[in-house]
Amino acid sequence: MHPSAITSSGLRLRPLSDHVGAEVDGIDLSRPISDAQHHDLNHALAQYGVLVFRDQELPPAMHVDFSARFGPLVGHLVSRFSVEGFPQVTYISNVRNDKGEMIGADRAGMIWHSDMSYFRRPMLGSLLYGVECPPEGANTEFASMYAAYEALPPAERERLASLRGIHDYVWHYETYLTHRQPLTDAEKAKAPPVTHPAVRTHPVSRRRAVYLSEGLTRSIEGIDEAEGRSLVVEMSRFATQPQFVYSHAWRPGDLVFWDNRCTMHRATEFDNQHRRMMRRTTVEGDEPFID
Ligand SMILES: [Fe+2]
Repeated sequence: MHPSAITSSGLRLRPLSDHVGAEVDGIDLSRPISDAQHHDLNHALAQYGVLVFRDQELPPAMHVDFSARFGPLVGHLVSRFSVEGFPQVTYISNVRNDKGEMIGADRAGMIWHSDMSYFRRPMLGSLLYGVECPPEGANTEFASMYAAYEALPPAERERLASLRGIHDYVWHYETYLTHRQPLTDAEKAKAPPVTHPAVRTHPVSRRRAVYLSEGLTRSIEGIDEAEGRSLVVEMSRFATQPQFVYSHAWRPGDLVFWDNRCTMHRATEFDNQHRRMMRRTTVEGDEPFID
């Protein structure tokens, strides 16, 4: 069992696994939060990597207000997936509109990744809200990249800390999202490959975390493409062993706020006859660094 902690602003934090995730009680996200609560949440996010808020009533406007306390919001590359009137809020859904088109990103993120790591300034965090959730499956699994880094033998930590991963959205889309309509040239042009350190220092906690993912890191800069790819896949699998993972089973009204700087995540399968409707915002972060 993991003991709860109470923050100075009165939030209760209950750890959800050995390395990642805490449930937060004592806050209503449909109302503005205080500076003291914001401070405590910012630190709790950096420490636990994932914050779970249950039983929240969170219309898109409030979802935007809460998210924007943590930084600038970034909409999805594919603008047709936005919630009407709220370009910063994206639907993650298997629901179709009356023209038969998908309203949101379908089967998104089924392979381990850190959100939008293919940008120069990747996302600090993402906030996903459950509106309609299938009765089983469709979990989101989170892995602590702090725990992965700390579990590596010292020589491997050092080697990894000298490398840079190549993060490539077009490669990702053409490899894993072949069920969707192809990207347009304009969409492709928005996301050329970028490199980031394979180990990054978290700007709030100052801890080091592995920053490579099977889903979005194509390979490693400066070494053979196939060899780099094997290293990425091997590291990603090492990092996502069950002891480093928390699996979130969704209920409507859950808001889950994860830190992309120190966790990876993926969605799990579910029976597609059930409706799934989630709304997501993403908060832009800083350029990854290691010191
Ligand atoms: Fe994601």
